[in-house]
Amino acid sequence: MAATRAALSSAAKRPSASLMLAATSARCVRPQLRLLATHAAPATAASSKKPCADYVSLSHPDGDASRGSKIADTLDRFSHSVLATYSRPQLIFTRGNGLDLYAAADPNTNQGHNERKYLDFSSGIAVNSLGHADPKIAEIAAEQSAKLVHASNLYHNEWSGELADRMVNLTHQHGGLGFAKGSKPTSPDTAGLKVFLANSGTEANEAALKFARKAAKSHPTKGGAHKTGLVSFKNAFHGRTMGALAMTPNPKYQAPFAPLIGDVRTGTYNDVAGIESLVDETTAGVIVEPVQGEGGIFPASIEFLTALRKRCDEVGAMLIYDEIQCGLFRAGTLWCHSEYPTSAHPDMVTMAKPLANGFPIGAVLMRDSVAQLIAVGDHGTTFGGGPLTSRIAHHVLGRLASKELGDSMKESSHALLGRLRELVAMFPDVLLDDAAAGKPSPRGKGLIVGVSTRDPAHAGKVVQLARQRGLLILTAGTDTIRILPSLTVTREQVDKAVDIIESCLLVVRDEMQRSTSTRVSSSKQQQIRAFSTSTRTSAAAAGEQASAAEIQAVYKQFIELGESWPKDPLRPDIDFGASISAAAQTALLSVASQSAVHPEQVHRPRGAPLPDPLPGTRTLTKDELAYAQQSLTLLRELRDNKVQLEYPLPESMLKPKSQPEYYERLIRSIERAVQGKSIAPSFAERVKRFFGRA
Ligand SMILES: Cc1ncc(COP(=O)(O)O)c(C=O)c1O
Repeated sequence: MAATRAALSSAAKRPSASLMLAATSARCVRPQLRLLATHAAPATAASSKKPCADYVSLSHPDGDASRGSKIADTLDRFSHSVLATYSRPQLIFTRGNGLDLYAAADPNTNQGHNERKYLDFSSGIAVNSLGHADPKIAEIAAEQSAKLVHASNLYHNEWSGELADRMVNLTHQHGGLGFAKGSKPTSPDTAGLKVFLANSGTEANEAALKFARKAAKSHPTKGGAHKTGLVSFKNAFHGRTMGALAMTPNPKYQAPFAPLIGDVRTGTYNDVAGIESLVDETTAGVIVEPVQGEGGIFPASIEFLTALRKRCDEVGAMLIYDEIQCGLFRAGTLWCHSEYPTSAHPDMVTMAKPLANGFPIGAVLMRDSVAQLIAVGDHGTTFGGGPLTSRIAHHVLGRLASKELGDSMKESSHALLGRLRELVAMFPDVLLDDAAAGKPSPRGKGLIVGVSTRDPAHAGKVVQLARQRGLLILTAGTDTIRILPSLTVTREQVDKAVDIIESCLLVVRDEMQRSTSTRVSSSKQQQIRAFSTSTRTSAAAAGEQASAAEIQAVYKQFIELGESWPKDPLRPDIDFGASISAAAQTALLSVASQSAVHPEQVHRPRGAPLPDPLPGTRTLTKDELAYAQQSLTLLRELRDNKVQLEYPLPESMLKPKSQPEYYERLIRSIERAVQGKSIAPSFAERVKRFFGRA
């Protein structure tokens, strides 16, 4: 890494033309050097630290499965029977270990290996807080499965009560739901809090919304049948079942399923002034994420939460914190709100994702003041609180609350935020850090972290590039890269993940600069195109005619230029020099004579001798010849890198709207050709790399 950085920083001092040629000749130089040629000195960079370029080249192509392999066949078979509600890359994950996930790979194209390793900085969307395939959890799951998995909620089991007990005790120790850190319930007859166990996040929210309506209606002083209103906030995500969906004001999720439950209002997150009119005597419950996760990693201000608490108390509404993504130590404390003043605590908190480290579970923890208003028979579930999941969650909760994990998690969070701050400073042209617009970067708490991109499309692009380099991260909101590693993440893993993201941002920057330089020189490109289409020269010649000798002299110069055109090491299949020679041939030589230069009328092989004398030329006016000469000058400038012109394949060509599977199909047919031995495997690799960069 250090050696690479040193090489890169010295490389960055050289002019870009020589860098491009250096990359052509030096065998040890990896493709990233060529990338640096185009972003050696970004004009906008605000950091002198060089980004890591070790992961610029594609190492984990998604398309491994689309190569006519067993994996492709399996995915194809699955697609016949699985309802496609997710757009998934062509990967099948088969096992995990800590933060590592392994996907099935085709040994024929993966140097004999049948799996490929990924570093998971998404934790299955904030679920695997203790990492994948934890041995102790596996042991407990096996033992309990052999003992008792389910006996129904009609009876008690050994573990759901233990889990609830641990959750309530931890809340007293760490703070939350009106208890300051370390405080005890005032009455010895009650723990002050109660737990309802469900199976998922959306079910936990569904239960909390039902409890809110029931409790608000029967509130001892402010209740009544009119208290049915529910309030949530813009950009919130609370789940996909009808009630939770009604509180998730995203038209993409809601519109197809309308009408949803009624009596719902949407407020503006962190808008203190708007609370009074938003929450009134008809309101039963207000649900809010203390850190919005899916919405883009936006923490609520304590001022906002305090004002909500106050208003809910005034009107007799229940305040629900959805801590499904940000709770259970992800934000650094048991509950995200644990260490906030009790005047900013909710009546209920919902949780799910990490509670059983991947086994399905959800829960509502509520104050006694709510619990007292819920009666037997009001709500229920078949699976919630079963002994298997409850025992696992009991264990997980104990481990999440351990001091060692808390300390190491805080160190990792500090390291991650530090590296991300540097990253934002290195890429001011790609990343957005705009506190005034409510988008400081990086932002978040603990290990729920987001970074905004200036171009919203770049967030998804970075996530895709990172996956193709072995790192799993997520998007959030419209423009946010979301990072949610397991809480067991180490400093080394943080460094590796951010190194990969830096390399991905180099790729994004490279692409941005390519498209800018293409735009700058598009008029010149048009000239080249106009020149290379022979229509212009075949038009009836008017005006003074050029002599055959003049035309032939220009033709020879074109041939020399074509032969001196540098080859691109990343795109050896594109021979732009040969295209120049071929274009000159068709534009300057008469149709009858072209076959004398090259019988197949395809690109003239480099170095092949020109016939002497040259065969007949087209008829050209002096003006047309001058135009050809201009094009020659332009092309020479391009060759010498005096004007910037790249020849990227535009996204629209790689993934045309009419054929979004174009790339997949192309790779598949190339692989078939490799298998049929009609093309070399190295060519397939080159094509894959070529497309992977697009
Ligand atoms: C804040 C929040 N609430 C609710 C949910 C829904 O949880 P589940 O997918 O388990 O139903 C999610 C899931 O992403 C979430 O992030």
